[in-house]
Amino acid sequence: RILILDFGSQYSQLIARRVREIGVYCELHPFDLSEPSIKDFAPSGVILAGGPQSVHEADSARISDAVLSLNVPILGICYGMQALAVQLGGAVERSELREFGHARVDLVSKSRLLDGIEDSLDGDRVPGLNVWMSHGDKVSRLPAGFTLLASTPSCEIAAIADDARRWYGVQFHPEVTHTQQGQRILSRFVLEICGCEPLWTAGNIVADAIERIRAEVGTSQVLLGLSGGVDSSVVAALLHRAIGDQLTCVFVDNGLLRLNEGDQVMALFAENLKIKVIRVDAEGEFLRNLQGEADPEKKRKIIGRTFIDVFDEQAGRLQGIEYLAQGTIYPDVIESAAAKSGKAEVIKSHHNVGGLPEEMNLKLLEPLRELFKDEVRKIGLELGLPYDMVYRHPFPGPGLGVRILGEVTKAHANLLRRADAIFIEELHRAGWYHKVSQAFVVFQPVKSVGVVGDGRRYAWVVSLRAVETIDFMTARWAHLPYELLETVSSRIINEIEDISRVTYDVSSKPPATIEWE
Ligand code: XMP
Repeated sequence: RILILDFGSQYSQLIARRVREIGVYCELHPFDLSEPSIKDFAPSGVILAGGPQSVHEADSARISDAVLSLNVPILGICYGMQALAVQLGGAVERSELREFGHARVDLVSKSRLLDGIEDSLDGDRVPGLNVWMSHGDKVSRLPAGFTLLASTPSCEIAAIADDARRWYGVQFHPEVTHTQQGQRILSRFVLEICGCEPLWTAGNIVADAIERIRAEVGTSQVLLGLSGGVDSSVVAALLHRAIGDQLTCVFVDNGLLRLNEGDQVMALFAENLKIKVIRVDAEGEFLRNLQGEADPEKKRKIIGRTFIDVFDEQAGRLQGIEYLAQGTIYPDVIESAAAKSGKAEVIKSHHNVGGLPEEMNLKLLEPLRELFKDEVRKIGLELGLPYDMVYRHPFPGPGLGVRILGEVTKAHANLLRRADAIFIEELHRAGWYHKVSQAFVVFQPVKSVGVVGDGRRYAWVVSLRAVETIDFMTARWAHLPYELLETVSSRIINEIEDISRVTYDVSSKPPATIEWE
């Protein structure tokens, strides 16, 4: 296993995902992880990630002596390389100018890290690599024992190696896809230099999780709030595989789901997979509580609170439950740890379904806490969940409640559901569904005119929204083909009498958000 120490770079999680993709388990921790925790983790190698700081800053982050005395391979990336260089007696030059973007590094000597890995360019006599750089400071003097591996015209010391100690540093970012050989470089480090075996596969993750769930839960009963989203669905399938009928799911239909979604969830989990699912039809209660409320944050709170009330009431009727399972995944764990330590700004603080374990006096079971989203999807497939469900776009907890602008009513929800289903169906048909990260329709409570035959008709307006994004923190509006937009628009207007106009949202995030409320 590999330990990744985070100095605050936006790329740290990406490094962890890449290492997992290679098939090796790794964990991401803050750079000042305590010595006992480091020893306890017993890594086969350490990756020092990048960070926004300069080693020249007064209390700049340092690599702890515990890491340097582990006697395992180390790979420093960007700030990680600079910290390594300075702490081992080299020097780092301060720079106000940032180098950012594509670069070509020349390979000037051989080492285990990069040997045989290169991108050739036509007519190029010097072997080199096409990489992604993002840095200000740079290493200006090698520490003792290190050799220079690679240079660019603006950054002479772009990669360094000490093959004897198996310590390496690269100024560029092997974890981003713009570094074409990046994944080979990381594989070389993790598999060959650290000697890890690629055992972190979907099959092994599932087998291991099942064993741990059985050991923890024993003969106890477990309750899960099933939302139909990927995370809770995978938890349901996993727990059912591990403990069978000791699992009970509560699925709250809040009346703000997509077209036929409630029935689909029941068909898959209850009928197909034979999981015990209690469906609570709470549409009336949600809509009643939402009546007259137009403020988006208040709507969110009402939906969240109503969910907890409905869920808790159901849970209270069940006998002998000891555990509450939740679909917490690794990025949630990293983010909340960073938020607690004050080291990262938390932009997103949305809460998904859950119930309140403290109030309910239940023990918490979070079998996906170590997994990234792409791993959750892979084990979902491994557990037999259909591809279309595992790779479905994310859907917010408050559902259509935040896609119906202003007051939520059943009539508007019904119109929106139909329009949304048409949009999604046409995206699938045109092969665009999986090319965008999230797509949906937004209902606007304004009436616009249209002509039907000889008459004028005033009806509602909806907007189509489709975005491409990696992390949902920033997003670009998807450049859908005009023909596709045309088909969707004419189908919605023709098939749904109460909608007279369709617009396409061409706002990117930031400054717009993905949802409209
Ligand atoms: P925004 O609109 O903030 O959305 O750009 C980013 C991602 O978060 C989802 N989202 C939510 N998810 N509860 C949720 O569980 C919410 O209240 C909520 N608001 C937005 C949104 O769908 C997108 O994927």
